[in-house]
Amino acid sequence: MNFELASLNLAGAAADKTDALVVLVRDGFKPGKDALSRLIDDAINMGDLDTKAGKLLQAWRAQGLAAPRLLLVGVGDGSPRQVRTAVTAAMASIKAAPVKHMTLCFSVACGAGAVRAAMLAVAEATYAYTTTKSKPEARKLQRVKVGVPDSASVTTAFAQARAVTAGVEMAKEWANRPANHATPTLLAEAARSLAKGAKLQCEVLGPRQVAKLGMGAFMAVAQGSEEPLRFIVLRYNGAAKSSAPVVLVGKGITFDTGGISIKPAAEMDEMKFDMGGAASVLGVFRALADLKPQVNVVGLIPACENMPDGRAVKPGDVVTSMSGQTIEILNTDAEGRLVLCDALTYAERFSPAAVIDIATLTGACVVALGAVRSGLFASSEALSQALFEAGEASLDLCWRMPLDDDYAEGLKTNFADVANVAGRAGGAVTAAKFLQRFAGKFDWAHLDIAGTAWKGGAAKGATGRPVGLLVEYLLSLGTKAPEGPKVIPKAARKTRVASRQVAGRAQ
Ligand code: BES
Ligand code: MN
Ligand code: ZN
Repeated sequence: MNFELASLNLAGAAADKTDALVVLVRDGFKPGKDALSRLIDDAINMGDLDTKAGKLLQAWRAQGLAAPRLLLVGVGDGSPRQVRTAVTAAMASIKAAPVKHMTLCFSVACGAGAVRAAMLAVAEATYAYTTTKSKPEARKLQRVKVGVPDSASVTTAFAQARAVTAGVEMAKEWANRPANHATPTLLAEAARSLAKGAKLQCEVLGPRQVAKLGMGAFMAVAQGSEEPLRFIVLRYNGAAKSSAPVVLVGKGITFDTGGISIKPAAEMDEMKFDMGGAASVLGVFRALADLKPQVNVVGLIPACENMPDGRAVKPGDVVTSMSGQTIEILNTDAEGRLVLCDALTYAERFSPAAVIDIATLTGACVVALGAVRSGLFASSEALSQALFEAGEASLDLCWRMPLDDDYAEGLKTNFADVANVAGRAGGAVTAAKFLQRFAGKFDWAHLDIAGTAWKGGAAKGATGRPVGLLVEYLLSLGTKAPEGPKVIPKAARKTRVASRQVAGRAQ
């Protein structure tokens, strides 16, 4: 999607030669002296236009307008949420029309959040997956002019939304691809080509290197598959080398059959989305490549399939993770935490300011929070607050969940340091408690996106979440601390680096 930003008042919008002019009208609309203003005012006064968010009034070849199609849309109070509702409704109503160029006009000054919400809603409404179709239908809408009274006031928001849109679409693309078109090897290639830009690097480890690192938990999941595993390391260097990076860890199970603890057949196809966390990391890097904020970010993706096979890991097998902790794999379907725990240990070498893992981890999180909010777990209050706020600001919502130690009771076993599952109760929390054992050396947060990464049913498809939340968070660090994130006080970080050097893993 091609977005451009322009300063446009309603008189200018009326003269704009475009296929469709969409005007967003707020509660308490105050008309100017131009004809379009008067038309809007009349429509409101006569009761034909309601300014409630999502209410529409459509006209064709309206007098005095250069555009053949006019769509007046109520945006209520003009908040980002209401703007999103409005633009989504507007896009649905012009979907069938042959609109290649559209102008989206804010009739009064609006905030940065409203502009971003509008752009993301346009992109969302017009996205179409085509990769594995023999006769793909191209996106009809090609260019969108975003018109605001004063474009200078929203240039940053505009650039951010454009980058997030590209990131979200990249995440959707990879998550939507079927597992035979999104193998660990193909994911690694996507990461590599993403890293061709300035300030980006990518390194890909294969089975031998992963074995050498001692990632016994990750390898146990991969061993039932013919597809070789990949461990992807992406780096974005936007700040000084001395600035501690934020590490993003994305679960990259390219297909989750459950392994020997095999899943039922119904809806198993949706387990191609089990690399939604990995896809969101790729999407974030796509946005970083555009925006070039002053932060350092590392992306880690443990990618493999979870398959049943003669060589597959069996319930009761005990494996040794990279951290040295032994794990009894009681259920091979709880594989996400196994690939993530080794990636978390690997993250230590970056002396990170914070580590955030993103994973389609548990069906229990879907039960707890549904498709509205991702589950947020965090060992640090500040990090939790920052991620929560980033979610609110980007309309990519999350909700904090508990991490009381009592939840870890069920992970105890007689045969290893820890089991990979506890009972059914509190499943999203016990999964997070498992991960927390591997995240003791840095500030850590975990986003369980099992309910939010994709939609099922007729609208089946990836959502691109939580790219918006993560980019918002990373940008907030870039602006608050020009020389890089300072989530951890300096003194604390020194001790951490020192302890890692003793362990001989500093880089
Ligand atoms: N990828 C699934 C989680 C999942 C299930 C996400 C359904 C979205 C919808 C994960 O690997 C898994 O299978 N988790 C198990 C854990 C259980 C065995 C403790 C689950 O949630 O059932
Ligand atoms: Mn599973
Ligand atoms: Zn899984």
